[in-house]
Amino acid sequence: MSYQTLLTSLEENIFIITINRPEKLNALNKIVIEELSKAIDEVYNNTEIKSAIITGAGEKAFVAGADISEFLPLDQKAGEELARKGQQNVFDKIENSHKPIIAAVNGFALGGGLELAMACHIRIAAESAKMGFPEVSLGLIPGYGGTQRLTRLIGRGRALELILTADMITAGEGYQFGLINHVVSHEGLLPKAMEILNKILLRGPLAVASAIAAVNAASQPGVNGFEVEIDGFAQCFGTNDFREGVAAFLQRRKPVFKGK
Ligand code: COA
Repeated sequence: MSYQTLLTSLEENIFIITINRPEKLNALNKIVIEELSKAIDEVYNNTEIKSAIITGAGEKAFVAGADISEFLPLDQKAGEELARKGQQNVFDKIENSHKPIIAAVNGFALGGGLELAMACHIRIAAESAKMGFPEVSLGLIPGYGGTQRLTRLIGRGRALELILTADMITAGEGYQFGLINHVVSHEGLLPKAMEILNKILLRGPLAVASAIAAVNAASQPGVNGFEVEIDGFAQCFGTNDFREGVAAFLQRRKPVFKGK
C-alpha cells in the first residue's frame, strides 16, 4: 500500500513506518492519523510483517505533536471525536498489537508525538531527542492517552510535573524516568531498534503476543491481569511452538518456531 504522508519499507520482516512531513516536523494531521491507522492494520494483517518500527523523517523531529493548524475550527464535540477516534484507531491499536512495535524517537517527540511513542511497546531515543507535553500552553490537555500512559510509565508525580509545566526533557532524563528504554546516537537508532526486534523475532511469536497482552492487562482498569496471565500461560501449552521450544532446549538446538 502506498501513502501520502508515510514512507514504509519491509526489511527482514520488520515494517519501518516513517512519518514523512519533515517541513511540519511530522505533526499529526488528519491524513497522518488515517494513514497510521491503515499502516497498523498492515502490521496486524500482513503475515510477512512480524514487527514494526515507527520513526519520523529528518533529523529534527519524531513528531512535534498534533497538527495545531487543524485545531481552531474544532468545538467540544469535534474535540471529543478527534481524541476518541485517534485513541481507538491508532494509539490503542499500536499498544494492543500482537506483533512488537518500537518507537525510534529521532528528535522532538511532543504532545501527540510522545503519546505515539508511549503507545509503542519499546522506546529508543536519539541523544538529541527532546520530549514533552506542551498542551497546557495551548489551553489543552493531552488527548491521545498521554495522561494515562505517562502516569503508568513514570508515576503520578513526575507525570504531573511534566504535563503541568509543559517543560521539555532530554533523552537522558527520559531514560532516567523510565520513559525511554535506550538512548543511542542518531545513526544508531534504527540499528538498535532492529537489533532488539531481531532478538524478539527468534522467540515464539504466540508467546510474544501473549506476553504483550498480559503486560498490557496490568494497566487496564477492570481487567484482572493475573487471570489474563493464567489464560495466556495455559494457551501456550496448547501450541506447537511450546513443544518445539521445549524439545529444542532438551536437544540443545535452536528452536524453529512456526507461530502455531
Ligand atoms: N502543528 C503544526 N505545525 C507545526 C507543529 C505542530 N504541532 N510543530 C511544528 N510545526 C511547523 C511550524 O509551524 C513550522 O511551519 P512553517 O515553517 O510553515 O511556519 C515548521 O513546523 C517548523 O517549526 P518551527 O516552529 O519553525 O521550528 P522551531 O525549531 O523553531 O521549533 C518546536 C520547534 C518543536 C519547539 C516548535 O515547532 C513547537 O513548539 N511546535 C509545537 C509543539 C506543540 O505544541 N505540540 C503539541 C500540539 S498539541
